[in-house]
Amino acid sequence: MVQLSHHDLLIRGGTVIDGTKAPRFAADVAISAGRIRAIGQLADHTADEIIDAGNRIVAPGFIDSHTHDDQAVLSRADMSFKISQGVTTVVAGNCGISAAPLKPDMDLPMPLDLLDTPPGRRFTTFAAYLDALRETPSAVNVAAMVGHSTLRAVTMDSLDREATPEEIGAMQALLEEALRAGAIGLSTGTFYPPAVKATTEEIIEVGRPLSAHRALYVTHMRDEGDKVMEALEETFRIGRELGVPVVVSHHKVQNTPNFGKSAATLALIGETMKHQCVSLDCYPYNAGSTMIRTDRGMLDGRVMIASSATHPECAGRDLDDIAREWDMAKDEAARRLQPGTAIYFLMDESDVQRILAFDETMIGSDGIPVGERPHPRLWGTFPRVLGHYCRDVGLFPLETAVWKMTGLTAGNFGLHQRGTLKVGHHADVVVFDSDTIRDAATYEAPSQRAEGITAVIVNGIVAWQGGAHSGARSGQVITRTPPTSATSTRRPA
Ligand code: ZN
Ligand code: CU
Repeated sequence: MVQLSHHDLLIRGGTVIDGTKAPRFAADVAISAGRIRAIGQLADHTADEIIDAGNRIVAPGFIDSHTHDDQAVLSRADMSFKISQGVTTVVAGNCGISAAPLKPDMDLPMPLDLLDTPPGRRFTTFAAYLDALRETPSAVNVAAMVGHSTLRAVTMDSLDREATPEEIGAMQALLEEALRAGAIGLSTGTFYPPAVKATTEEIIEVGRPLSAHRALYVTHMRDEGDKVMEALEETFRIGRELGVPVVVSHHKVQNTPNFGKSAATLALIGETMKHQCVSLDCYPYNAGSTMIRTDRGMLDGRVMIASSATHPECAGRDLDDIAREWDMAKDEAARRLQPGTAIYFLMDESDVQRILAFDETMIGSDGIPVGERPHPRLWGTFPRVLGHYCRDVGLFPLETAVWKMTGLTAGNFGLHQRGTLKVGHHADVVVFDSDTIRDAATYEAPSQRAEGITAVIVNGIVAWQGGAHSGARSGQVITRTPPTSATSTRRPA
């Protein structure tokens, strides 16, 4: 008989917020062999290692619902920029861009180059990518999607048109391979040049394999500005035709004429949720970040260069200043800085707050782990929601904030036995101080780790404690659980 009161790890004296939105309660948490073994008053229990959580919150490890960490989990496997925030799981493969499948010698059109894929380390199948992650784990768990733009780039000789039936068949076969290997869904980025010409019908046809796997359709929509309502309708239609849950990525309304429109978009999303599975995520900033581009009104507001292959010295500078110095128009300067990434101040703070406060909105960073001057969301998203928006602004109670980054996300993405603190679940846990937690990353100094994170545990192993990385790489590959569990659907009965 095993000794049930001795554990690998005991988190003592904390206040548990379990990720279900239930009110907090005082309890100890015991962990052994990667799982949560007991939650309660465990004064007579012992452990090899004890974490004192007095005056601290003990919560499920945060799940970053929207990332571009596909390559970073291999090339920067300590994942300090996420672990230091309390993130224990990342959902990768967003916005139509994934690390696999690629051809070894192909050119990567923007924005596929955002993943910083080294030419010598490319995966021609999704199975090979997931195998590499299992062989050399990172510090965080990974659930990965296949990108539609990536499928187009490997399949089509020209991206400037709709796919032919043969090309659609080839993309379906690649998607099927990925889903069998363990991909949790398909993402699209019809906002971006490689997929602008893809019609709704092309996406539905390419997405056919999702239906049998009941995998997710996740999208950086065609339009988040003037035609955001039409883009939402297109997204919902694709979900209905395929009979799969949809996720609206980094929901926002951009460009000044659209400020305030989030009242209408959220009303439409809320109404649609009554009839089909819809979820959405948001990052807690009023500036976005993506490839340097000159169309779609992207240069209308303040633009800060985050990275540039041609002029790396311009990272961190405003495009206005660069254009003035070079004595040319903003768009001409932007073209000279390509390829690269930029930060665009295109949103209204009241829309950001309204979307964050919408009950069903998950928290996702959309962090881009390339360059010296990334958007601060890469290092700051989760503590910013907990500190700034929850505690200081008062957008929602702490239990709701935690749920938006744990239980809600695990349910929407079908991440089995993650996202809530329950006996038997995987032991992904974060211990933090709700009075002092705050993001330290700014636009000027973006690579600053957050304050107030006491300890981060991934699959039962301490990855972060006392402001330092332990060196642990205990992350796992998470594959989607077929939706027999009640949490993976929100259709009405
Ligand atoms: Zn995106
Ligand atoms: Cu993204």
